Order: sequence, then structure tokens, then C-alpha cells
Amino acid sequence: MYAVLRPSDPGHAGRQWRAFHLIALAAGLLAVALLSVEGLPPGLDQFLTVIVEVVAIVFFAEYIIRLWTAPEAARFAGLSDGMARLRWALSGNGLIGLLAVVPIAAVSSGTVHPDSDWLPIFCVLWILKLSIHAPALNTLARVIVNERASLASVVIIFITVLVTAATFTHLLERHEQPQVFGSIPDALWWAVVTLTTTGYGDVVPHTVAGKMVGSVVMVSGILVLALMTGILATGFAEEERRREYLRVWDQVTRVPLFTQLGTVTLSEIVSKLRVRHYPARIVVVRRDEPGDSMFFISEGQVEVRLPRGSVTLEQGGFFGEMALLDRLPRSATVVTSQPTTLLVLYASDFYEIAANIPSLVEAVEHEARRRRAENQGRAMPTEAS
Ligand code: CMP
Repeated sequence: MYAVLRPSDPGHAGRQWRAFHLIALAAGLLAVALLSVEGLPPGLDQFLTVIVEVVAIVFFAEYIIRLWTAPEAARFAGLSDGMARLRWALSGNGLIGLLAVVPIAAVSSGTVHPDSDWLPIFCVLWILKLSIHAPALNTLARVIVNERASLASVVIIFITVLVTAATFTHLLERHEQPQVFGSIPDALWWAVVTLTTTGYGDVVPHTVAGKMVGSVVMVSGILVLALMTGILATGFAEEERRREYLRVWDQVTRVPLFTQLGTVTLSEIVSKLRVRHYPARIVVVRRDEPGDSMFFISEGQVEVRLPRGSVTLEQGGFFGEMALLDRLPRSATVVTSQPTTLLVLYASDFYEIAANIPSLVEAVEHEARRRRAENQGRAMPTEAS
């Protein structure tokens, strides 16, 4: 149960649970939102209330199961069961889970009346459970930590422009509009609305000089936001590249063709490979379609469907090389026969590797020659297929 509830569980049951959880969350939130509409027909009102109750019970059960299975988590290894549960209950996920329990506990203990205005607010806090479905939130937290120095510089620029703009407009506009620019704190509201490019228009400078300051603030706002976006986007891409590198490194050791290479050469290839997980019975390449990549099997099994029958390729094997070497359409259809993890190498990287690491490509070419001969009915001595 612990494995199924893990956000990253790749299994069928895990995926089904996440889909169910997402549907329950959406249904619960929609029902809570609709219940706030005045004058609903009584039947609909009751129906929506039942939905909210069912969803609350599901989340309650989920909380209990997560709490119960907490000692299974690797990060709590070495702790007693009770301690592991306590640590989980106090973690971010534990506290979010608890929020889902609050409405039920509050109503059943009689603290909150079922018709209370507070109940929908508790239920809307369920939205925080969406974080379970967004593992990238951890990445965002790491990016913010990694890029803290650059982000702090942008925040400092933001505050500098904000305070300077508020001070100048206060000086320029205070006689014209004393009620909104009468003090620097008053003028700060206008500066924030303008610098963030929101522009409610409730407060606007009237003097020419004030309008000039306003123009500078607007342009500065765009620049500051662009800087912030750029830093976060680059940080995200960098973090994703690092994670992908580790994922590939983990898989690459299962392919004998790579393990013979030295560490430096291997690290060059690792940065060019991408990990892809496929369920069983998925067509990876289709006969006669153009080919832009080749694949190494790091886990699982595929079936190569040829006009004269089929061949099975196991972990450590590779396919899709013929289209790249011959620059021809795919010679066969390749289908996964069980859940399979593949390492993908795109054509441009393949040709670059061909130039830098000839030994690797020679091994691939040798196997491709054998396969070509086999397909034409002239058997050659078998090497691991
Ligand atoms: P490609 O032609 O790009 O796409 C289909 C792939 O099936 C092909 O590359 C080979 O990698 C693989 N293939 C073709 N013939 C055989 C064979 N006889 N044995 C094993 N694999 C093959």
C-alpha cells in the first residue's frame, strides 16, 4: 500500500490510484464551489453534499493509510514505527493530509455545524492535496534554493525601484492628489500596482513629471519580471538536466555495450541519452516510418516484428540503428512485450558519437550488418541479439 500511494510509483495500481485521487479531488472541490451558489434546487443541494461527504471520507481513509504505512519510507529507516508516524504527521504532506481530515473531525465531534460557513473553507483547503500530483514542486523548491543569489538580486532591484518610484511620485503628486499620494506608504500602493504591471487604474499620476516616473516604473516592471522568469526557467532546465543525467547513469550500467567504455567516454554518452518508460504492448517504432532515433533496452523486452516472423530483444539489446545507419525508413515494427525502459539516442547525437567514439558505432554497425543479412535470408554468425 505504501508503494501504491507513493507519488512516483510507476505501476498500474499507482497510476490508477492517482487518477482516482485526482477525480475525487476535482469532484469534491467542484461540489464545494457549487454549494456556495444561492438557491440551488434541494435535490442537487443534497447530491452535492453527499459528494463532499464521500470525498471527505476517502481523504480520511487515505490519511489513516498513509499514517499507518509511514514506517515503510526509506527516509524513516532506523526509527521506531511510532516515531516514523509522528515524523510523517509533522511533515508537509502529513499536515496537508490532516487538513483533509479536519472537516470530518470538526463535524463529527460537533465543533462545527454541518451548515456552517466555515466548512466550505476547510474543504477548499483540499486544493493543497494537488501537490501530491506535482512532483515538480520539489524541483521548484530546489531551483529557488540553487538560484537564491540571483533571485535575491532581482528582489533587491524590485524593492529599489518600488521605493524610489513611490518617493518620487509622492513628492510630485502630493499637492495634486493628497488623498492617494499624501504619504510614501500611500504612494507605495500605486508603485506596486504599476511595477507588477497589474495596473488597476484606481490611482494614476496627474502631473507630467509623475506620468514620466510612471512610464519608467512600467518598463522597469517588465524588465524585472522578465529577469525573474529567465532565472527560474534556466534553473528549472538545469535541474531537470541534472536529474535526467542521474536517471540515465542509473540505467546505462545495464547495457553491456556501454559498460566497456571508460568513465569519461561514458559520461559523454550519458548526457545525450534520454530515459523513457513504456508499458507492455506499445509500438515504439513502426515499419516504413522515418527514423530519427535508436534505442537501448535497459530493462524489459521488445518484439521486433519482421515480414518473416519476429525476434525478441532483451535487456542490454538495442534497435532502431538501421534507419540511422542506412538513412532509410524503419525496417520493422518494434513493440514492447512487457513494461520496458529504453534509453533513446537521437540521430544528431548518434552521428556526433559516431565521430567521437568509433568503437561504439562499429559494434552497432556490426550487429546491423548481421541483422540485414538475416533479414535477407543469409544467416551470419549470431552475436547477442
Ligand atoms: P530500424 O530499421 O531503424 O527499425 C526497426 C529495427 O528493428 C531495426 O532498425 C533493427 O534495430 C531491428 N531489427 C531489424 N531486423 C532485425 C533482426 N533480424 N533481428 C533483430 N533486430 C532487428
